[in-house]
Amino acid sequence: MKTDPNPARSDHRPSSEELNPYLAELNALRDWKKRLTLALQLAKSIAAQTTIDSLLNELVSATQKLLLADRATVFLVDQKNGELWSKVAAGTQTIRIPISAGIAGSVATTGELISIPDAYSDSRFNQEVDKKTGYRTHSILAAPMKENQGKVLGVFQALNRLNEDGTVRSGGFDHLDAELMQLLAGQASVAVENALLYDQLRLATEDTIYRLAAAAEFKDKDTSEHLHRMARYSEILARKLEMPEDWIAMLKLAAPMHDIGKIGVPDAVLNKPGKLDAAEWKEMKQHPIYGGEILKNPSADALILSETIALYHHEWWNGKGYPYGLKGEEIPLEARIVAVADAFDALTSKRVYKPPFSLEKALTILEEEKGTHFDPAIVDAMQDIIPEIKEILF
Ligand SMILES: [Fe+2]
Ligand SMILES: [Fe+2]
Repeated sequence: MKTDPNPARSDHRPSSEELNPYLAELNALRDWKKRLTLALQLAKSIAAQTTIDSLLNELVSATQKLLLADRATVFLVDQKNGELWSKVAAGTQTIRIPISAGIAGSVATTGELISIPDAYSDSRFNQEVDKKTGYRTHSILAAPMKENQGKVLGVFQALNRLNEDGTVRSGGFDHLDAELMQLLAGQASVAVENALLYDQLRLATEDTIYRLAAAAEFKDKDTSEHLHRMARYSEILARKLEMPEDWIAMLKLAAPMHDIGKIGVPDAVLNKPGKLDAAEWKEMKQHPIYGGEILKNPSADALILSETIALYHHEWWNGKGYPYGLKGEEIPLEARIVAVADAFDALTSKRVYKPPFSLEKALTILEEEKGTHFDPAIVDAMQDIIPEIKEILF
């Protein structure tokens, strides 16, 4: 009788019952691989976000996709006010809850993950929330997002684990979901810290700019409201003219500094109640040059448009403006936009020499000066943004 020299190579074919556990494991591994690949892709798009708003949106959609959750919320801890806050999905509205409220609150205060397979049979779940929203919560998974030292920065919360076919899975989230959520929260914490710092920096820059610009306008009895409004008009005009968003952001930051050169004009000229004489006008017309000098060669990209705006915001489309008499498109676009936005706000505001004009009257005056003082395309764009203007004005 022949014996098999290699007993391991037997002719025995395993039955499908014997294979089942291996197939199940193989499927589980495939699923794991698929979700890890997705996690890596999501980590890349998370790292690319520089504002806290866009980052929160990205994190919410990443949580939903990765955990097959019906809904997700990402809360951030606001230690100062003892609150958790978040953005309503794809909206601008912020929601705030006390730091110890609900499931998210316990995760924030204990730093421990919570997984609830059946919310209605768990005393920690407050059914009032569902009653208010009309939503039916089945399962909940909530994990802390911690920074390096272990401090809780926020909470990831996912509701209702779905099956592949979109139905709610009984039994809720499993340990794999919990691990993926912790992985995601770990990746997100660095991005969140950076975005918060970035936001702080942006706010600080903006604040400094408005205060500096207000110092110049203060001398001229203008207000910081004028600066905010004219910067908003400039922003909306630029968007209407289909300029890229990063350029628009630079324009909005630079626009309030248009008159910073007035710091160099004597008070007696700036605040003279009557008409200026020729010598005084000559002095007044220096302010774009002073402004250009103050803002010369800005080291930050974000301030790059401020020099040209200060220098050229009194140039006229027909070449009759000051200080250089540039004509048409020789005048940089940013200065042409600011010229219209600035004039429009002056027209609709009260000045010592005039009452505030109505929106209609201000637009008529711009129309009359179209092609002489102002770039015709920008005055036309102004007509197209009347609804947005009304929101700022009223
Ligand atoms: Fe000016
Ligand atoms: Fe102004």
